[in-house]
Amino acid sequence: MNNNSQSIILGIESSCDDTAAAVLINGKIRSNHIASQEVHAQFGGVVPEWASRKHQQNIIPVVDLALKNAGVDISELDAIACTQGPGLLGSLLVGHTFAKGLSLALNKPLINVNHIEAHIWSHFIEDEKPEFPFLCLLVSGGHTQIVKITDYGQSEIIGTTLDDAVGEAFDKAGKMFGLPYPAGPEIDKLAQKGDPNKFSFSTSSVGDLDFSFSGLKTSVLYFLQAQKKVDPDFVEKNSFDLCASLQHTIVSYLMSKLMKAVEQTGIKQIGIAGGVAANSALRSALESYAAEIDAQAFIPKFEYCTDNAAMIAKAGEIKWAKNELGTLRDICYARND
Ligand code: KG4
Ligand code: ZN
Repeated sequence: MNNNSQSIILGIESSCDDTAAAVLINGKIRSNHIASQEVHAQFGGVVPEWASRKHQQNIIPVVDLALKNAGVDISELDAIACTQGPGLLGSLLVGHTFAKGLSLALNKPLINVNHIEAHIWSHFIEDEKPEFPFLCLLVSGGHTQIVKITDYGQSEIIGTTLDDAVGEAFDKAGKMFGLPYPAGPEIDKLAQKGDPNKFSFSTSSVGDLDFSFSGLKTSVLYFLQAQKKVDPDFVEKNSFDLCASLQHTIVSYLMSKLMKAVEQTGIKQIGIAGGVAANSALRSALESYAAEIDAQAFIPKFEYCTDNAAMIAKAGEIKWAKNELGTLRDICYARND
């Protein structure tokens, strides 16, 4: 292992619709900036072509801002860590090509980071870190997995979604409720005022630690179609209860799988990561469960749940310590497989 504890690493993230840059100095995050893209809201989802165009406009200003606020001159950087995949190819290319250019110009190492793994390493940004083995429920717009982490850079996916990701289920159901994209945060907000047991939606019972969300989407669709026949204003009149019931269904389903994983592995260092880990009901469900079984719960700060570059810089530091460096020949990948 290299000892890179005395180092300045620039992290760059551009896998979807957020352009982000962060600076990690001697293991601590000193700046963390995100340029979000409002343009997608009107389309109800991310439009890949718009995303890459906006990344192109945002990448230099966001990197400049991260360097400035960390008090670092570009020449002082020791390494550049960048998301290599998975994600939207055009989006990834903007950040990755920029990082390659910087690495070449400064003659400093390029570190390729897997976006999904980085969500997990977000738990290692703060001083209070999980011990190994660590169990992480990774819940984002693109992924839903239960991952067992046994050491730095050593992990095994022990459960995964067979179809949609949980964030997508939030966003698609939210669209049916007439909410703007991304609907997850909005559902969380509206759910605070609703009854979680008012409506029931069905989840698919797939094997063991795996997940399925396509049945839930269909269940919401058919339920709303039936209700609207009786009352065309059903959604508007019941938005709080709809959001609370959907959120309750999803959180209970996620927690049931996580609990099963804890029982099977006996691991009591448990965390959540990814955009959906910002969900208030999921955060409190994990805390209550951990208290009940005398386990330690790890819940990242909000800014480290949704896509960010701090987690990329941290993951880069871990990979650099293992001497896992990238080259200018490396290409981006859209999917994990
Ligand atoms: O990790 P992330 O920022 O991007 C991906 O890697 O996919 O996750 C984005 C997802 C979106 O589906 C968004 O609706 C969801 O995270 N999300 C939430 C909340 N905040 C973000 N879902 C439920 N409750 C939230 N508070
Ligand atoms: Zn993500």
